Amino acid sequence: MLAGKRIVLGVTGGIAAYKAVDLCRRLVDAGAHVVPVMTAGAEHFLGRTTLSALASEPVQTSLWNEASPIPHTRLGQSADLIVVAPATARLLAAYAAGLSSDLLTNTLLATRAPVVVCPAMHTEMWEHPAVQANIATLRSRGVHIVEPEAGRLAGGDTGTGRLAAPERILAAIVRVLSGGDLAGTHVVVSAGGTREPIDAVRVIANRSSGKQGYAIAAEASARGAQVTLVSTVDLAVPFGVTVLAVETAAQMEAALTGLAPAADVVVMAAAVADFRPVAAVPGKIKKDQGVPQIVLEPTPDILAGLGATKPAGQVLVGFAAETSDLLVHAAAKLQRKHLDLIVANDVAAPGVGFQHDTNAVTLLGADGTTRTVALADKRAIAKAVLDTVVEIRGRDQPPHPPLPTS
Ligand code: PMT
Repeated sequence: MLAGKRIVLGVTGGIAAYKAVDLCRRLVDAGAHVVPVMTAGAEHFLGRTTLSALASEPVQTSLWNEASPIPHTRLGQSADLIVVAPATARLLAAYAAGLSSDLLTNTLLATRAPVVVCPAMHTEMWEHPAVQANIATLRSRGVHIVEPEAGRLAGGDTGTGRLAAPERILAAIVRVLSGGDLAGTHVVVSAGGTREPIDAVRVIANRSSGKQGYAIAAEASARGAQVTLVSTVDLAVPFGVTVLAVETAAQMEAALTGLAPAADVVVMAAAVADFRPVAAVPGKIKKDQGVPQIVLEPTPDILAGLGATKPAGQVLVGFAAETSDLLVHAAAKLQRKHLDLIVANDVAAPGVGFQHDTNAVTLLGADGTTRTVALADKRAIAKAVLDTVVEIRGRDQPPHPPLPTS
């Protein structure tokens, strides 16, 4: 996976420094040549010997090395990628300010290689405006941030600030190094079923779990896209994906109409309610008031609205969830909503559609092409959908200027 890649692993002085050992082992196992650099702070938490034994070279700590008089330029220039894990608030501040006080900060300034920074600290520090401003500065310069996770922290506290799991860091490194056929694009995906309030406690809902939409978001992110997911459900957020939480069709419409004009690709995997109560009853409808008459009205057709206002060059993808005459209904939706591609799933078939981990689809293109994907896990379906999106972009679209990466 990382064969032939030279990766500088920077370790700074936080309690999570011990986890750098596991990351180092995984990088080496993936075929990378790992060059470890520890700060003085890191040495309070981790012995050099441990990391030296597992890495491809002995640990380096000092700018003042007689055998190699300018180690930072050698390290920075020869790296395919630099990853800092864990990165303390101090490292973030120094890097954002351009300070070069030790071997690691010098190396970060002396490289043109991509940099992946994995912060870890207490919640209060992570949420401090100064730290967040430094993160924003680094992001704006193209540094890839693997955000910390929520969980148990040093000292028995709980909150956000724990170093990202090594598999997430590894996935980020692979993604950054692979470039990806959606690099430089902004992909907007919708996922989950909308919930339309009847009263303060009851809703009209549907069976969508969000799994298919999340799989598309994860696949797009892995292929280098900047991904925004408009979601009604609370699933694990795929790496690098920004989630906008919504509940109703109206909220989803507002989020998508705001995002779509600047998107290169929009994939509408959500199951939007077609009808909603005209007005939600304030408070709870009481049983002893008798069976309520709920008057419904149609919701906006979000996808049709996006199709009507689609900017030139955008690829707009819809889904069709059908229980009969799959391709007839899907083709009609493709045309009526001005889509480039529709993903038709027969949700009455075993293992297909709502809630399953698997799906089976037929992709109908606006150019008349048809592709069938047999029952497979939803990530494989996502891959087939995005392969087709990439084909459409390659065929029809002028090249797009790259967006800043996050
Ligand atoms: O979430 P999962 O459990 O993983 O299940 C996946 C899925 C079955 C939800 C997914 O594969 C799927 O089919 N999503 C679309 C469901 C749907 O609402 O289909 P539809 O045929 O009713 O609508 C056609 C298209 O118009 C869809 O892209 C839908 O998002 C969109 N639509 C529909 C109604 C509406 N008011 N606004 C819309 O934008």
